[in-house]
Amino acid sequence: MLVLGIESSCDETGVALYSRTHGLLAHRLHTQMAMHAEYGGVVPELASRDHIRRLVPLTRACLADAGKSHADIDAVAYTQGPGLGGALLAGASYANALAFALGKPVIPVHHLEGHLLSPLLSADPPPFPFVALLVSGGHTQFMAVRGIGDYTLLGESVDDAAGEAFDKTAKLLGLPYPGGAKLAELAESGRPGAFDFPRPMLHSHDLQMSFSGLKTAVLTAVEKVRAEYGGSVPEQTRNDICRAFEDAVTDVLAAKARKALADTGWRTLVVAGGVGANRKLRRRLSEITVRAAAKGRLKTPPEAVRTYFPPLEYCTDNGAMIALAGAMHPERAQPAQGFDVKPRWPLAEIVSQAV
Ligand code: KG4
Ligand code: ZN
Repeated sequence: MLVLGIESSCDETGVALYSRTHGLLAHRLHTQMAMHAEYGGVVPELASRDHIRRLVPLTRACLADAGKSHADIDAVAYTQGPGLGGALLAGASYANALAFALGKPVIPVHHLEGHLLSPLLSADPPPFPFVALLVSGGHTQFMAVRGIGDYTLLGESVDDAAGEAFDKTAKLLGLPYPGGAKLAELAESGRPGAFDFPRPMLHSHDLQMSFSGLKTAVLTAVEKVRAEYGGSVPEQTRNDICRAFEDAVTDVLAAKARKALADTGWRTLVVAGGVGANRKLRRRLSEITVRAAAKGRLKTPPEAVRTYFPPLEYCTDNGAMIALAGAMHPERAQPAQGFDVKPRWPLAEIVSQAV
């Protein structure tokens, strides 16, 4: 079964071909980052129009890369949500029109399920069951993944997503959009301990998280520095703030990941989503060890955890994870006759149960 995958939920147009027998055959991506940069954020109308321009040439290029033709496609998977309404409509209408013309079914995909399964695209895929940390610009969630389609939400951010906090903090430090990766780069030159930001909900005894207060703490620190230096923030101080911010976020994520592993008793952690590209976070999550619950008065020894990261190109939005998620759900194939998109689509609607 050969599945064409279409991703268009935000500012990346992704197209890929995934075969259930041969794996990923080809994938192409166009990022609109440069186009939105001059506005300091994604402009939804521009995003939709650009998706429309890119979808046909990207599909043709993908088919050529794989040595396939339109006639070889068995189903068209597309991101049905969540995301920007217009951007989703561009991909959904293209996917449905193409499938209708080919006389093939469509498979609507939840964007986050794509992220969740993206580690399966790596050469060394994780075994089930595993704890997944979905950490992107829109979401920060821990999920228990027992198998394809068998997900339980363990906990999530109650306000800003971690990536959103990275981007908003970068913006208030005057970094160009999208600031998350740039902030992380500057943090590498920051001095440890120069600033100390709060670790919200670190001790909340559950897997809920909160990142919006952190951004406010950074704002207060920046205002203080500005007042001290006549309106500007010296380069080293800015880097120190970046470092302290990144340390706070990664501390919270690592502590909650350890708790999720302790609670489930599993020793496999999978990290997916754009913030999964963050090097400090990767380091912290790779070093996690967990003690099983103490037996009587005896302390159990720390157990190693194996942490999996999807290859960097599959961490951020891409078509490969949508083609893969579609191929894993042949039972969801449906005729391409009328369609809708779901800009707001809680993952809970496709998970087995919410905790
Ligand atoms: O998964 P993704 O491509 O898009 C969705 O949100 O669905 O994630 C994008 C997010 C942005 O917030 C971006 O700033 C963040 O991932 N990001 C990073 C890094 N690279 C991308 N955040 C921290 N460190 C990075 N190296
Ligand atoms: Zn995403």
